[in-house]
Amino acid sequence: MTNPALFLKETLRRPGEVVAIAPSSRRVARKMTQGLEHVSGPIVEIGPGTGSFTREILACGVAPSRLTLMEVNDHFCTDLRARFPGVRVENRPAQEIQALGLTNIGAVISGVPVLARPRIQRDIVGRALEVMVPHGLFVQITYSLRAPISPSMQAELGVSATYRGMVLANLPPAHVYVFRRIQH
Ligand SMILES: C[S@@+](CC[C@H](N)C(=O)[O-])C[C@H]1O[C@@H](n2cnc3c(N)ncnc32)[C@H](O)[C@@H]1O
Repeated sequence: MTNPALFLKETLRRPGEVVAIAPSSRRVARKMTQGLEHVSGPIVEIGPGTGSFTREILACGVAPSRLTLMEVNDHFCTDLRARFPGVRVENRPAQEIQALGLTNIGAVISGVPVLARPRIQRDIVGRALEVMVPHGLFVQITYSLRAPISPSMQAELGVSATYRGMVLANLPPAHVYVFRRIQH
């Protein structure tokens, strides 16, 4: 089980960071993690909160030792360490992904709010791409119907967006986008 009480407490304490009012539903988690069984190499989840996506990543057959979580909230980190033994939990911002010492990351699963935050998009997506395999997946949840990264920012970062779909069974309804580096 994820921890809705802890999630709500931290939402009230740090609304600008957590942004949602409840952990993502299992259906959203399934859409976020779809196809991960075919990904090789390290996987990094950013903004895991209370672990809705973490649980599904592991359910895809990803070994705990391949998974690293980056979460800024220390209370969430304590909870994640207790519930996901063997998974590396880093209490640091996703902007520091290059400091993890990982290369050839196969996928980044992102719950970090990036919508309408161009600086965060550059600092998180841009830096992640540098330590990912060329065909790696950057999977992003958003509550907006439009891609959370604008077409001009996609061009700047050299990525293209694919809409994976909407999940109504979530509070609020959620959309999932996948960003991939444009191959030349
Ligand atoms: C909308 S919640 C999503 C939580 C979880 N993935 C889910 O869907 O239930 C956003 C999470 O991102 C974390 N967060 C915000 N900014 C971050 C950053 N720069 N780096 C890492 N985590 C961040 C928040 O603390 C929070 O846990």
